[in-house]
Amino acid sequence: MSHAYRAIGWNRQKRIYDTVMLAGVAVYLALFVGLGTVIHPNATIETLLIRGFGTCALLLLHIVLIIGPLCRLFPRLLPLLYNRRHLGVTTFLIGLAHSVFAIIQFHGLGNINPLVSVLVSNTRYTSLANFPFQPLGLVALIILFLMAATSHDFWLANLTAPMWKGLHMLVYVAYGLIITHVTLGVLQAETSALLSGMLGVGMALVFGLHLAAAYRERIVDSPLRSEISDRFVAVCSVDDIPNLRALIVSLSGERVAVFKYDGKVSAISNVCQHQNGPLGEGKILDGCVTCPWHGYQYLPDSGAAPAPFTEKVPTFRVKVVGHKVFVDPTPNPPGVYVEPARIAEAALERSR
Ligand code: HEM
Ligand code: FES
Repeated sequence: MSHAYRAIGWNRQKRIYDTVMLAGVAVYLALFVGLGTVIHPNATIETLLIRGFGTCALLLLHIVLIIGPLCRLFPRLLPLLYNRRHLGVTTFLIGLAHSVFAIIQFHGLGNINPLVSVLVSNTRYTSLANFPFQPLGLVALIILFLMAATSHDFWLANLTAPMWKGLHMLVYVAYGLIITHVTLGVLQAETSALLSGMLGVGMALVFGLHLAAAYRERIVDSPLRSEISDRFVAVCSVDDIPNLRALIVSLSGERVAVFKYDGKVSAISNVCQHQNGPLGEGKILDGCVTCPWHGYQYLPDSGAAPAPFTEKVPTFRVKVVGHKVFVDPTPNPPGVYVEPARIAEAALERSR
């Protein structure tokens, strides 16, 4: 959390995550080059490395893109999301290795700057079969660099969350550029049925999972048609909220996480201050709402992170009448204390 910045807060989970990721990359590259020398005995080691690094970066980018929707659909996979930024940085570094080898191989021997050569050596922009696909890879690489360079929480705090989020949304532009880079590049090299097939499966997964996750979110966002009393809206029954967890409801277009704990109910914004993680999918640990993505914590009655941390989310007024839970849709400013609503003993007994 944002009390003080440290280069990287290593812990056991991050070490395991990174070890598995780096071992996976090493095994992939070793298999790609090893099998490549057997299947294509005429291919040079440089060609195999260019293709091995390129396809590895593409595979990692697919994993980065599908982790988000996968975790929305299957919360058990949330540990995958925890260190996704290291996956993104690794994608950039592997893409960089591919680009450096490709530039040396295809642009290193000319009499102009190799980077300029990437941009000007082929200008047949009107031809599909000979389209200059390499500049597309260069632009994608620049986007991946910007994202990797600003991935630390230091930049999240200093660029402000909306700007940081906007910058990181460029990952979809990079994805589109790389898909075009590969599709048009393959048209010009020998056609690889395996690469084309895998590209098709990868794109179907990325689009399909995003659509499925968006559909699920639409159900959460559907407006409540319920009883209104004194500005309070009936959102659910006490029994609908699991103990020490929340029910997410949509009020006036905003997602609100309604938590039940210690015989009380409190409501806070569902949006974590760190990277917009869904607080209502987390649970109450040590008396604090704990974000399921990276573990930022907030007190359920004030929406404020426990000292010395400084993050705050908006709170909402709540009341419980019998077993019904009511929430006032007007948010309080972040960090404003709201008296939790007590659940009557009879309703509590019933919900146990
Ligand atoms: C300056 C930037 C880049 C340059 C100059 C470049 C150049 C090339 C070249 C020349 C090829 C054809 C290689 C061959 O068929 O032997 C290629 C293919 C490819 N590139 Fe790039 N590239 C760049 C950036 C990227 C990035 C950032 C990615 C992914 C993150 C990427 C992914 C791929 C993939 C997956 C292939 C297909 C590999 C195959 O043919 O098996 N490229 N690139
Ligand atoms: S989004 Fe990272 S901790 Fe909530």
